[in-house]
Amino acid sequence: MRRGAVNQPLQRMTRETSNIESVTGPDLSVDLAPNNLHHLRLANPVMIASGTFGYDGYGRGITQDMQLGRLGAVVPKTFTRLPREGNPEPRWYPKSFREAWEAGDTLFLNAIGLTNPGIEAGLRDVTPTWDDYRATVLLSFSADSVDEFAEMTAMADQGTGFQGIELNLSCPNVEDGSLFSHSAELTAQAVAAVRRSTKLPVIAKLAPNVPDITPIARSAADAGADALTISNTMPALHIDTQTRQPVLGNITGGLSGPGLRPISLNLVYQASKAVNVPIIGVGGIFSGEHAAEYILAGATAVQIGSANLVGLSAPWRILDEFKSWVAATGAASIAELSGSGRPEVSV
Ligand SMILES: Cc1cc2nc3c(=O)[nH]c(=O)nc-3n(C[C@H](O)[C@H](O)[C@H](O)COP(=O)(O)O)c2cc1C
Repeated sequence: MRRGAVNQPLQRMTRETSNIESVTGPDLSVDLAPNNLHHLRLANPVMIASGTFGYDGYGRGITQDMQLGRLGAVVPKTFTRLPREGNPEPRWYPKSFREAWEAGDTLFLNAIGLTNPGIEAGLRDVTPTWDDYRATVLLSFSADSVDEFAEMTAMADQGTGFQGIELNLSCPNVEDGSLFSHSAELTAQAVAAVRRSTKLPVIAKLAPNVPDITPIARSAADAGADALTISNTMPALHIDTQTRQPVLGNITGGLSGPGLRPISLNLVYQASKAVNVPIIGVGGIFSGEHAAEYILAGATAVQIGSANLVGLSAPWRILDEFKSWVAATGAASIAELSGSGRPEVSV
């Protein structure tokens, strides 16, 4: 029954893909799970990043004219095992990403605290509605322990409305308080526990603040991750010198947006030389050119985060710009371009 639910949207996707892309030029399709029986074939490499799908992370503000099926995939906000209220306000800095962007300010911070209804309510009330999007959707979740990762995967495996899983590994392991994706060992344990509990495509999303991303990327891939998403936000602090207070209720938060782009791009470059699984680059992508930079560094796909909060139509504009760039290169496919901006390739 589950497999039917998985396969149906994929078939639909394939039809849409051939309709849209075959008449307009190069083959933009990518497979994020080439080693998985189910595969994870996207019409194009432009995705919406977790937590930034609409104003609440679950699509609030997305309107009919925003055709989600035209995008590669959508990753709604991370679910946790139990419901979470989130952090004290303010949870964003600045208050309006759009106004700040228009004024030329590009320092974007958030400390939302994974506000979500919990995975039980999520799988019952939220994910079944995702079929209506007629798009490829990935379920994001995080857990407090390796056992909880396994438990949540078993629950997710019975769910509907999504075609794959993105593991948010930027969450602390209760046993020692360290983030899963700060340790190659913990990353391997979490990914292996998930891999044992589902045949769905599994993508491991990593944190940027590590001394060397390569052992962590390798351990995720070796433990069975079909692809990697790099990266989550960077821990950061900003203090208002007028109020003499930190700008976020949680004091510290995560840096996203343009400041993150060169950091994340470098991590994608490093990781893509170390592993043979597809990498999804995320961090500060606001234009087709930024997306292209990630593909040249070795990414197979990209996710758009903060740009959605400047304007919800950003992914479609970025996709159109990216398509023009690909066409101008004369390349026949994304595979031809991925990693082609790396001077030396040593996988
Ligand atoms: C408001 C906000 C909420 C986010 N929530 C999540 C989340 O629930 N799960 C997750 O894996 N990443 C979350 N992220 C991180 C983004 O998915 C992305 O990795 C990060 O923002 C970098 O991309 P960007 O610079 O394009 O925003 C969130 C980011 C923002 C700005």
